Amino acid sequence: MTMRPQQQSCFMTILMLFGLVQIGIARDLRNVTEPKTPQTCTYLKATGGDDTAVIQKALDSCAKGKAVALASGTFFSGPINIPSGVSLLVDEGVTLKAIPNPKLFDAGLKTCGTIDNSGFGCKALITMVGAKGSGIYGKGIIDGQGGENMTGTNTTWWRLTILASRQGKFQNNPRLIQINDSTDITVYQITLTSSPFYHLTSSKTNGFTVWGIFINSSHANRNTDGIDPTGSQNVTIAHCNISTVDDNIAISALIAPARHISIYNNFLNHGNGLAIGSWTVFGVSDVTFSNLTLNSLTYGIYIKSDTKNGGLVSNITYDNICIYRTRYPITLDMFYYNHTGNRTPSFKNIFLKNVRIGTTGSYILHGISDSDPIQVNMTDVHVAKGSTWSVSHAKIEGVYKDDNAGRHCRQNGNI
Ligand SMILES: *[C@@H]1O[C@H](CO)[C@@H](O)[C@H](O)[C@H]1NC(C)=O
Ligand SMILES: *[C@@H]1O[C@H](CO)[C@@H](O)[C@H](O)[C@H]1NC(C)=O
Ligand SMILES: *[C@@H]1O[C@H](CO)[C@@H](O)[C@H](O)[C@H]1NC(C)=O
Ligand SMILES: *[C@@H]1O[C@H](CO)[C@@H](O)[C@H](O)[C@H]1NC(C)=O
Ligand SMILES: *[C@@H]1O[C@H](CO)[C@@H](O)[C@H](O)[C@H]1NC(C)=O
Ligand SMILES: *[C@@H]1O[C@H](CO)[C@@H](O)[C@H](O)[C@H]1NC(C)=O
Ligand SMILES: *[C@@H]1O[C@H](CO)[C@@H](O)[C@H](O)[C@H]1NC(C)=O
Ligand SMILES: *[C@@H]1O[C@H](CO)[C@@H](O)[C@H](O)[C@H]1NC(C)=O
Ligand SMILES: *[C@@H]1O[C@H](CO)[C@@H](O)[C@H](O)[C@H]1NC(C)=O
Ligand SMILES: *[C@@H]1O[C@H](CO)[C@@H](O)[C@H](O)[C@H]1NC(C)=O
Ligand SMILES: *[C@@H]1O[C@H](CO)[C@@H](O)[C@H](O)[C@H]1NC(C)=O
Repeated sequence: MTMRPQQQSCFMTILMLFGLVQIGIARDLRNVTEPKTPQTCTYLKATGGDDTAVIQKALDSCAKGKAVALASGTFFSGPINIPSGVSLLVDEGVTLKAIPNPKLFDAGLKTCGTIDNSGFGCKALITMVGAKGSGIYGKGIIDGQGGENMTGTNTTWWRLTILASRQGKFQNNPRLIQINDSTDITVYQITLTSSPFYHLTSSKTNGFTVWGIFINSSHANRNTDGIDPTGSQNVTIAHCNISTVDDNIAISALIAPARHISIYNNFLNHGNGLAIGSWTVFGVSDVTFSNLTLNSLTYGIYIKSDTKNGGLVSNITYDNICIYRTRYPITLDMFYYNHTGNRTPSFKNIFLKNVRIGTTGSYILHGISDSDPIQVNMTDVHVAKGSTWSVSHAKIEGVYKDDNAGRHCRQNGNI
């Protein structure tokens, strides 16, 4: 979700004596190594027509522990469901394209491809529900065709998003990959592009490894988030290259806690930011972001919430992060969209270590009250000279240096 933070009148609170707790195990508790592609049960060749039924049948009859390989050509498909234990492999040179027909994706309400007040009318292109040990592998491409006209219309999925936004309503567009209530899920090497809506979302999933994937959607439209783990635990996102238009990564906790998450060696090259929130109701904790390069984003390090969807965000470490050409390099904001309610957010034990910002920007730390201020520890934080700061109800332990040291770190990613 894209939003400019409010500019409110502020006062600075920079304290040197604030005692933050040293954090415990702020990472994925599993020992995660580079995934291995499973053996193949069936090889499929694209027919040029609608391959949905062929792919689904192959998945349903594949032995557990093995993968259905899309082995050659360009496949066109409606929604498919990956069963427990089975994987989908899209080989190098192969593309799986979503057929832009809203009827195929309708979730039963006959609203897919229309504008309404909810936006939940479509199935995803690829769904896993209650799966264990399933995955998506291969160096091929999964293309959501968000920029194509929906069948029988002169309107693309992305255009529908713009029209909905103008009316203050929601588009009913398919997500690319939705993983719910699952365990031990892997997404490896694949390229995801042009999703009509979010690219890769997990909900209440424990054990989720996303490794070496490429999201190439800098030409897309809003709501095309890259990777969104929500209410999920034991999550690793590593060695990925993510270019999109909305949040590159967004960790949230609307229906369950989000904790034990490791995000490392990724390159975020275009997009709205590296986000936590805005839903933090069940708490986001024990997250480490390390070895990341953020280039040409709207927001960089971004924790957003509000009193409508607030909760505890705690034990979050950012270590070895380089940020360039980003308007808001660090934003910790409790006034997201000015939504109000009675769930007050709390941001505590936020550690920024070895963070270098190479270009000027606006820094915003807006807490709600001095009785429960944002708590952030800054160690070895270097910002560009000429940047502006707006801080209210925040206690900063340590200092940042405006010494331009960020100009010297690698700008092409650490992946
Ligand atoms: C701030 O973080 C640094 C480095 O992690 C640590 O040495 C220091 O003790 C922390 N300060 C507090 C008050 O927690
Ligand atoms: C944060 O870490 C501290 C120290 O390890 C621990 O006592 C606390 O329970 C953690 N908080 C959360 C919400 O996990
Ligand atoms: C991870 O590896 C360490 C060191 O080898 C080991 O002590 C620990 O038990 C392992 N944890 C898990 C969950 O396998
Ligand atoms: C996270 O991983 C650890 C280590 O494998 C395991 O003990 C724990 O149960 C997992 N947590 C969840 C919620 O699955
Ligand atoms: C799409 O546009 C063409 C030409 O611009 C027009 O002839 C056609 O009727 C339109 N189709 C729909 C479904 O609006
Ligand atoms: C969608 O339809 C309109 C009107 O026919 C056309 O101008 C436009 O090029 C089409 N867009 C795509 C992506 O095919
Ligand atoms: C997946 O979970 C989300 C809640 O995070 C829910 O809105 C969606 O309907 C679920 N999808 C499926 C296919 O179960
Ligand atoms: C990125 O995606 C666009 C549109 O799908 C495609 O034309 C382009 O070749 C892709 N770039 C790379 C480097 O894969
Ligand atoms: C981050 O980079 C440092 C220095 O290259 C390396 O020692 C460390 O293992 C990396 N961290 C991760 C989680 O890969
Ligand atoms: C939020 O409220 C502030 C202060 O009242 C105002 O300046 C700002 O424009 C509001 N932001 C939005 C998105 O409504
Ligand atoms: C990441 O992808 C972009 C295209 O979106 C490409 O220009 C860049 O070289 C890639 N970076 C790495 C480190 O792979």
